[in-house]
Amino acid sequence: MIILVFRWLLMLVVILTTKTYFGTAKRSPRLSPIDPLLMKGKKVYVTPSGFETFFYNQTLDHFNYKPESYATFQQRYIINSKWWGGANKSAPILAYLGAEGPIDLDVAGVGFLIENAPRFKALVVYLEHRFYGESNPLGSKGGPDSIEAMEESVNNKTIRGYFNSAQALADYAELLLHIKEKLHAHNSPVIVIGGSYGGMLASWFRLKYPHITLGALASSAPILYFDDITPQDGYFSTVTKDFKEASENCYTTIKQSWDEVDRVASMPNGLLILSQKFKTCSPLNNALELKDYLKNMYAHAAQYNAPPKYPTTRICEGVDGASSNATTDILDRVFAGVVAYNSPLGSTCYINMEESDDQTSIGWSWQACSEMGSPIGITSNVSMFQRSPYDANENIRNCMENFGVMPRPHWATTYYGGQDIRMILSRFGSNIIFSNGLRDPYSSGGVLEDISQNIIALKTTNGSHCLDIQISQETDPEWLVKQRKDEVKIINRWFRKYYRSLHLLKQ
Ligand SMILES: *[C@@H]1O[C@H](CO)[C@@H](O)[C@H](O)[C@H]1NC(C)=O
Ligand SMILES: *[C@@H]1O[C@H](CO)[C@@H](O)[C@H](O)[C@H]1NC(C)=O
Ligand SMILES: *[C@@H]1O[C@H](CO)[C@@H](O)[C@H](O)[C@H]1NC(C)=O
Ligand SMILES: *[C@@H]1O[C@H](CO)[C@@H](O)[C@H](O)[C@H]1NC(C)=O
Ligand SMILES: *[C@@H]1O[C@H](CO)[C@@H](O)[C@H](O)[C@H]1NC(C)=O
Ligand SMILES: *[C@@H]1O[C@H](CO)[C@@H](O)[C@H](O)[C@H]1NC(C)=O
Repeated sequence: MIILVFRWLLMLVVILTTKTYFGTAKRSPRLSPIDPLLMKGKKVYVTPSGFETFFYNQTLDHFNYKPESYATFQQRYIINSKWWGGANKSAPILAYLGAEGPIDLDVAGVGFLIENAPRFKALVVYLEHRFYGESNPLGSKGGPDSIEAMEESVNNKTIRGYFNSAQALADYAELLLHIKEKLHAHNSPVIVIGGSYGGMLASWFRLKYPHITLGALASSAPILYFDDITPQDGYFSTVTKDFKEASENCYTTIKQSWDEVDRVASMPNGLLILSQKFKTCSPLNNALELKDYLKNMYAHAAQYNAPPKYPTTRICEGVDGASSNATTDILDRVFAGVVAYNSPLGSTCYINMEESDDQTSIGWSWQACSEMGSPIGITSNVSMFQRSPYDANENIRNCMENFGVMPRPHWATTYYGGQDIRMILSRFGSNIIFSNGLRDPYSSGGVLEDISQNIIALKTTNGSHCLDIQISQETDPEWLVKQRKDEVKIINRWFRKYYRSLHLLKQ
């Protein structure tokens, strides 16, 4: 476990500095449920004891019958049966649907399943998403975090054709049936749980495979951030709102800082001045590098704006503190925010813009260029950021350059729906919880109102990305505790109804 925590810390640097595939400016903000930085110093389950790792001989291509479709790969899944009431009791299964990264992080950082397994007497299962971690069809040479394996996969025009959400859902269907078969647990109801992209998968899984799952908990799932269902400004206007709420002065200072960066950068020696002022780890090549870094930092802080030390508040305390000193200028104040958020990287610098990638950044670049891209832009004149409308043509150029493919921006809504969601799902779907924290910028693309009695939106005003499914902490505020309790209550209701039906059928 200690190794895992360490890995999270490493990932943070990566998130803020990735550039190879797309440049920071054009990359969508990351969807991962767990904020690497916030795990620092938190309680982590020390017990992979009871967790067993298995591999399933998974079908490469569920939707074709060409000879090569029958190829298989090893898909990793992890089971904990410590709390399970057993097949004879038709005791339930809580299944975590892995998303765009190795499953190890979720096993260690997602608390909802293990914390609730005892009360439900549930079997706990974590399923890894194809192509990530040890579930790469080309093999995971170099280990579950191998960047080489992921690069090889997304650059192989044949194999990456199988790297998509529909295939991943079909994997989960086949694998869950396999697990039930193996355990003779035919009547055990399955609840699927996921966060972020994994939350989208969970809700879609319930809609596509209702015969395999009784219900879904979809945490921070921006299933409406496709096409023009959600305004392109949704993400960054939430970031802006978060900072404005933290401090009006902080918002104003940051809003004014971009032009100031541009102004200083255009002076002779301007980039040198900026590099020194912001204590960058290497000299700036242009103003955009710095602005991208800051923009991503604010976005990250807002997305993972978790108690008890809300990162937006921390940044703003830095900015406001420096603002009360009459000798500071706007850039000093913004830099004070960086210092409040970052520990020094090494002894002398604070901003590291080195290029680096990980499986998530590379794999998600492919997924976004094929089918999962969200149109995120900045258009509002009250935004804390400089105007930067979403440019579909630029996205096409980037995807052509990186992968030689045209994105299919309408496929997600064609295949999964999303338009008129209330009208459609109130007449068709059931048993989905959409949970959101409204300080999470991705909540702007989430389902925030109940759709029906059984498709329920549980939102918290001060919550952030995937907070509800993360490991609970002693310091958790009342509203977060309540959100989790409400989720349990709803799932319990689904179970009661299910067991009543099962009982009647068996008579
Ligand atoms: C996986 O399944 C394929 C086709 O059914 C079979 O040829 C192969 O031997 C299996 N591999 C393993 C490791 O079980
Ligand atoms: C489950 O039921 C089967 C058949 O009814 C029985 O043979 C078996 O012993 C039971 N297992 C447990 C753990 O109770
Ligand atoms: C792509 O992967 C397939 C395995 O699915 C392999 O047979 C093929 O040689 C790879 N192509 C390249 C160009 O590496
Ligand atoms: C005010 O800011 C200046 C320049 O950043 C710094 O040298 C000075 O120590 C600060 N004064 C106080 C009281 O914090
Ligand atoms: C911002 O836009 C709104 C309309 O969208 C307009 O009424 C307002 O005057 C604008 N404010 C500024 C400062 O440009
Ligand atoms: C949310 O946080 C603000 C302070 O940032 C506080 O004033 C408000 O009461 C909180 N709301 C809830 C529902 O806890």
